[in-house]
Amino acid sequence: MIELQLADKTHDEERQGEALVIDAPKMINARKLYIESYGCQMNFADSEIVASILLDQGFETTGDYHEADAIFINTCSIRENAEQRVRNRLSQFGIEKRRNPKLIVGVLGCMAERLKSKFLEEEKLVDMVVGPDAYRDLPQLIEQVGEGQKAINVLLSREETYADISPVRLNGNGITAFISIMRGCDNMCSFCVVPFTRGRERSRDPDSILAEALDLHQRGYKEVTLLGQNVDSYKWKGSAEAEDGAEIMVNFAQLLEKVALISPELRIRFSTSHPKDITDEVLYTIKKYDNICNNIHLPVQSGSSRMLDLMNRTYTREWYMNRVDAIRNIIPDCAISTDIIAGFCTETEEDHQETLQMMDYVGYDFAFCFSYSERPGTLAARKLEDDIPEEVKKLRLQEILLKQQVSSLRRLQESVGKTVRILVEGFSKKSDKDLCGRNDQNAMIVFPAADHIKPGQYVNVVIERCTSATLLGRIAD
Ligand code: SAH
Ligand code: SF4
Ligand code: F3S
Repeated sequence: MIELQLADKTHDEERQGEALVIDAPKMINARKLYIESYGCQMNFADSEIVASILLDQGFETTGDYHEADAIFINTCSIRENAEQRVRNRLSQFGIEKRRNPKLIVGVLGCMAERLKSKFLEEEKLVDMVVGPDAYRDLPQLIEQVGEGQKAINVLLSREETYADISPVRLNGNGITAFISIMRGCDNMCSFCVVPFTRGRERSRDPDSILAEALDLHQRGYKEVTLLGQNVDSYKWKGSAEAEDGAEIMVNFAQLLEKVALISPELRIRFSTSHPKDITDEVLYTIKKYDNICNNIHLPVQSGSSRMLDLMNRTYTREWYMNRVDAIRNIIPDCAISTDIIAGFCTETEEDHQETLQMMDYVGYDFAFCFSYSERPGTLAARKLEDDIPEEVKKLRLQEILLKQQVSSLRRLQESVGKTVRILVEGFSKKSDKDLCGRNDQNAMIVFPAADHIKPGQYVNVVIERCTSATLLGRIAD
């Protein structure tokens, strides 16, 4: 979720559609699945569950939808433009479907859940609509489509965590991977569609999380990112067989510690932290273990307590600042990133100024910034008027982006002249003469390649200069 933002562009958190494939030998006569994902990291992690289920059904993945037997599009509903992108993409798939009527087109994820059977009515080419808790049903739904029917399953579950399904790593670099530790969300932020598309919050069995992390470590992975809409409210209650059925409780700090203990060579990141729930216990756990990255994504949404109240975020400006102070006190070199919404209902210029002041106060390393987009069915859509004109939203967003650019640059400049330890992820996007990787704080560092340095290695790099998005350096002697 956290990547560095480039100049003066509105950066959308939801990733653009990405074709996801696995690097595996091809099978003869296997049916081919093309899967494209939109939205947050959790959606991308879900696509890996989906691929795992379909691989068991004799499918293999392809990066070319023209040769696919099934096209799945794993969708996001967070803002209107996210949905629009999916609809545009579907019309392209429609051309393929007319050419090959046997092609199965499936819509998965949050948009499937939000629109349900309406999707089948609106988009005639779609054969299958599957919500995020119904992926185990995919084989049966595919069969149904094979028999000439439309298929739909959008049931949400209070228990499903796909804990026993081992995700296949799509587009993986073999070095970094996501692990979902929980699903759904019980908060009711008034602007947000997620509680409706993902259902109730539930935590995944810690043993299955640890087994997945250990397996990744044993396969040579060096970094895992623990994912949830609100990781700080992770809570597992279960009975431990080894302890005579006694009830055990695991909170997020304890889970972090367990994962950190797998190996000092395995780095741990996590996202997203909710300001109302992040505890000092979590902060002290981050401090205690070198392999837990010093990087917290703490979405503020707005710097105005009045807005936060209308947004139903359940914290105030002062509370948020206090949490930032706690981070700065306990983990002084921790990077803090955030999400900000510009132009929420009734936002005044004063409210907006308070957001800008908050940005000054925190000095964010990175921010995802958005214009408010009303989502049908949410509390805000039902109770508040989306009354800020588009031009005003845009202007405020622009000011926020500009401030963030300065802040990102300032934070990166603080590293210039220092030697930092990074995990090499691969060649830089721009040149195969350069390698790149991230430091503890999640900043991207580019440096000249050397024969003895390979992706997956930790190296020390001296930072020589920076752009507003990247640190540039050389391998330390
Ligand atoms: N669970 C995370 C956020 C998940 S959604 C949290 O609570 O922080 C990611 C981000 O999308 C949110 O933080 C918010 O900034 C943005 N977002 C959500 N709904 C939105 C909407 N209706 N309009 C604009 N941005 C929105
Ligand atoms: Fe949405 Fe709020 Fe839940 Fe985040 S915490 S997913 S913003 S409802
Ligand atoms: Fe989008 Fe659903 Fe994630 S709405 S941001 S894909 S939880």
